[in-house]
Amino acid sequence: MIRFLLPGLTLATHAAAACSRAALQEVTASYIRAQTSGKPDELHLASNATYAENDKPMSITTGVLSQAITIDFSRSIHDTVECATFTELTAATSPHPYVIHTRMIVSPAAAANMTPEITAIESVVTDQGDWIFNATSHLYWTQQEKWDPIPESQRDTRETIKAAADAYLDQWANSTLPVPLGTPCARLEGGIYTGQRDPAANTCRMPAFPVPIRAGNRRYVIDEELGAVDVFNGFPWLEATNTDAAMPSSNLVRVEGGLIRYIHEVTVCETTMCGR
Ligand SMILES: *[C@@H]1O[C@H](CO)[C@@H](O)[C@H](O)[C@H]1NC(C)=O
Ligand SMILES: *[C@@H]1O[C@H](CO)[C@@H](O)[C@H](O)[C@H]1NC(C)=O
Ligand SMILES: *[C@@H]1O[C@H](CO)[C@@H](O)[C@H](O)[C@H]1NC(C)=O
Repeated sequence: MIRFLLPGLTLATHAAAACSRAALQEVTASYIRAQTSGKPDELHLASNATYAENDKPMSITTGVLSQAITIDFSRSIHDTVECATFTELTAATSPHPYVIHTRMIVSPAAAANMTPEITAIESVVTDQGDWIFNATSHLYWTQQEKWDPIPESQRDTRETIKAAADAYLDQWANSTLPVPLGTPCARLEGGIYTGQRDPAANTCRMPAFPVPIRAGNRRYVIDEELGAVDVFNGFPWLEATNTDAAMPSSNLVRVEGGLIRYIHEVTVCETTMCGR
C-alpha cells in the first residue's frame, strides 16, 4: 500500500481503502460457503485467528460453523477502510433455524493478488428462545427490503452513517436524544417487523425503556456504498434473570440521505425470550 507522507494529504490517505471491496467480497463469499457446508477449513484463516460466538472465545471447530446450515438469504457489507466485513445469515428452512450476525477482521493483503487472511471472526448466533426469534418471519421481511448500492453522488460519509446508528443506540439511555429516523423506517427486531402494517406510517421510534440502557462495547463495520453500518454491542437489562449482564447483540442499520431506513436487531437471551 502506498502511503503519502505530505501532511496535507493525511486525511485523504486515511479515508483511502486499505482493502479492496473485491477481496472483502471474496471473504464473505467464503464465509457463506463454509457455513453452508459446515467446513470452517474453507476459510482462509490467519494462524493466530480468533473466534468467538456470543462474546465467548471458542474453537471454530466446535462452533456453529461446524454445522452445515441451509442459508435462505444473506446480506453482507464490506468496510474497505477498516478491512472488516459483516454478514447476516437467515436460515429459516434448515432443521435448526438460525439468524446469525458475523463480523470478520481481515489483514490487508500484502500484494493485490494475495488472498487476504481472516484474523478475527465473531458472531451473534440467535435461535429459538432468543429475543423475539422467528427466522421464518425474518426471512420474509428481509427479502422485502431494498438495500441497493447508493449512487455515488448521494452517499453519506462514514461519520454520518456511524453517527446515525450511534444516535439510535444512545437514545436507549435517554429517550429525549434526537435520532435521525427516516420516514418510512422499518425495524426487524428478531422476527417482529415495525413496517408491516401501513408502510407510510413505518417508524423505528422506540418507546422509552423503564431504565436507561447503556449499549456499550460497540464494534463497527461501515459500508458507504450500501449506506450500511453494523454495530456489535452489549445489551444490558434485557435478560430478566441477569439484568447486570450485557447480552450479545447486533444492530444492522441502513442509512439513506443521513436518515435511518432499516434496522435489523438480533439479541441473545440466557433464558427463553430473556425471561420477559
Ligand atoms: C496475528 O499475527 C499478525 C502478524 O503476525 C499480527 O499482526 C496480529 O496482531 C496477530 N493477531 C492477534 C490477534 O494476535
Ligand atoms: C413465525 O412467523 C411466521 C410467519 O410470520 C408465523 O407463521 C409463525 O407462527 C411464527 N412462529 C412463531 C413460533 O411465532
Ligand atoms: C438527556 O438528553 C437531553 C437532551 O440532549 C439532555 O438535556 C439531558 O440532560 C439528558 N438527560 C440525562 C439524564 O442524561
